[in-house]
Amino acid sequence: PAVVVLFGGRSSEHSISSATAGGVLRAISRDRYRVIPVGITREGVFVLEDDDPDKFALDADRLPEVIDNGTRVLWPEGGADRSLRVRRPDGTLEELGAVDVVLPILHGVHGEDGTVQGFLDTLGIPYAGGGVLDSALCMDKHFMKIVLQAAGVPVAPWATVTRAGWDRDATSVRADAAALGLPVFVKPARGGSSVGVSKVSDPAELEEALQLAFAEDEKVLIEAAIVGREIEVAILEGRRGAASRASLPGEIVLTTREFYDFEGKYLGGDGADVVCPADLSGAEIAAVQALGIRAFDAVDGRGLARVDFFLTADAVYVNELNTMPGFTPISMFPKCWIASGMTYAELISELIDTALE
Ligand code: DAL
Ligand code: MG
Repeated sequence: PAVVVLFGGRSSEHSISSATAGGVLRAISRDRYRVIPVGITREGVFVLEDDDPDKFALDADRLPEVIDNGTRVLWPEGGADRSLRVRRPDGTLEELGAVDVVLPILHGVHGEDGTVQGFLDTLGIPYAGGGVLDSALCMDKHFMKIVLQAAGVPVAPWATVTRAGWDRDATSVRADAAALGLPVFVKPARGGSSVGVSKVSDPAELEEALQLAFAEDEKVLIEAAIVGREIEVAILEGRRGAASRASLPGEIVLTTREFYDFEGKYLGGDGADVVCPADLSGAEIAAVQALGIRAFDAVDGRGLARVDFFLTADAVYVNELNTMPGFTPISMFPKCWIASGMTYAELISELIDTALE
């Protein structure tokens, strides 16, 4: 089958998506798939990219990017048409052949939030990963938590604040934050990779944290910090009507870092280790796996997700679901499946084949 690997995009996680593309382009089975790499620039232009894993390797000094190379990818016309074309910088049109499936490895808004999914649904092109509803829901941490709560999945207490709400009445926002107790996390509602996230341990730091988060999104969450271990589980949708599957759990082990921020995630900052499998009892493993699948079902999950938890002495909370989790070969999602007996290449095939079913 012909697979469009779609990456980059307009969100602040553009480079992380590009790094994932590097891993996918390197590992995807060339015997099984014809690969068409399509990049989306930060401005939102669809370009035909080089099929070159090295170009998109994760390099802390120079994060990979999709740069406008002058080509334009033209999507099918709709209806029965599945043909993809590229317009070269000199204006000539070239057929790229029929697309069977898209692998949208986009993170953040305009990609992980149901918009690209809706576009592909409208064109009738199958795609891997989350659908419109689960993607949109999980992109917005406010609504994700409401749905999880309604499904009986424990979440950390929080308050949602808009920029307009803060400007109108900072006093009541401060009161809401105080009611959560310190420390709190301040995070954009529709962000990812910890961009714009701060840990606030002193009320005097609240305003700066809010402004940092407002730079990412008009809507921000103030969340009680749960003191516990950070455990994550990778979920794959069941094939042919079977139940979804949870991997062995992994753990983010913080040594010197305050929290698992962007630097610790991608810039080689030390103080945070990604470990899988996590050192847990059989009962703890079963509990987080079951809760992970419950959370995935609660948001009508499709394809895949990584479910992130806080594990305390006597409870498990779901922090969030990521419908297109970081997918570089060193990321937690593939790590968890590798620890559970799959290879990275098999995992990519699994996602694509589930979409083709
Ligand atoms: N948003 C990043 C890519 C993650 O969840 O891993
Ligand atoms: Mg996230």
